[in-house]
Amino acid sequence: MRKDASTATVLLTGAAGGIGSAIARLLAAQGYSLLLQGRNQERLETLRLNLPHPERHRTMVADLTDKAQRQSLVERCQALAGGVDVLINNAGVSQFALLEHIDDASLREVLETNLLVPIALTRDLLPLLAQSRHGAVVNIGSAFGHIGHPGFCLYGASKAGLHGFSEALRREQGDSGVQVHYLAPRAVDTTLNSDAVKNLNRALGNHSDAPETVAAQCLKLLQSGSSGRRFIGWPERLFIKVNALLPAVVDSALIKKLPVVREYAAGKKPQGEI
Ligand SMILES: NC(=O)c1ccc[n+]([C@@H]2O[C@H](COP(=O)([O-])OP(=O)(O)OC[C@H]3O[C@@H](n4cnc5c(N)ncnc54)[C@H](OP(=O)(O)O)[C@@H]3O)[C@@H](O)[C@H]2O)c1
Repeated sequence: MRKDASTATVLLTGAAGGIGSAIARLLAAQGYSLLLQGRNQERLETLRLNLPHPERHRTMVADLTDKAQRQSLVERCQALAGGVDVLINNAGVSQFALLEHIDDASLREVLETNLLVPIALTRDLLPLLAQSRHGAVVNIGSAFGHIGHPGFCLYGASKAGLHGFSEALRREQGDSGVQVHYLAPRAVDTTLNSDAVKNLNRALGNHSDAPETVAAQCLKLLQSGSSGRRFIGWPERLFIKVNALLPAVVDSALIKKLPVVREYAAGKKPQGEI
């Protein structure tokens, strides 16, 4: 719950990425103070200097899959005057590949970054968030966490896990002052998506949103006054409902797309490209 944006401080992970920087711009324009986390100081500092009131914002470099660096980030939050009110778990990685082509290193990277890190960060920051009158967590999930899509077994598993975590935590914190939000975008125009994914989306006719669309929904959740979840995009919202009620219908629709998925996973270029 955000009653007074000018006093709310947000830890935003993956701040220099496509969605992260859109969220940073929107929240900074609303008066929030931001602690911008990423792995590249130059990119973070460029982002900070281009935000409204750069002097209100801080940066911190940390590889979140490194336990010691994650701990340093938590300690930085604890040391901030006024603490941190909102945690936005936005950092993430993707992987478009058939399961048999995914090695152990990728398995670990995707599950750690997309699932273990947000759970651990939330656990470590909850005491701080609970001290705030505006305490909130926003977990950035994905439509693929709700519609298992061929080519995204690993990514979908990580985001389905993040949704399960968010739902249980929302209920666990139901009698506390900390709100737990979950936001699931469909495809978004960022460098998270490789050319193969962009080509696949084009071939399948999947719509892609601007990062600003996700940022606007994130702000709406923060301003909503109660824990909530949002799914971005139509017809994706309908597919998610159909998938929950009648998964066999979605099975047959997606199995028909398998040949296209296999081609692009194997590196096919769109017609006209060599
Ligand atoms: N783009 C989409 O189609 C889409 C759709 C649905 C959901 N999402 C979700 O939206 C979120 C943001 O994605 P995006 O599209 O903005 O991707 P992006 O532009 O690639 O940004 C991802 C961010 O995550 C950070 N990150 C990755 N691994 C990290 C690690 N080990 N430690 C610290 N930071 C790490 C990156 O940090 P650096 O800046 O240091 O590289 C980067 O800032 C992700 O959770 C993603 O799963 C994206």
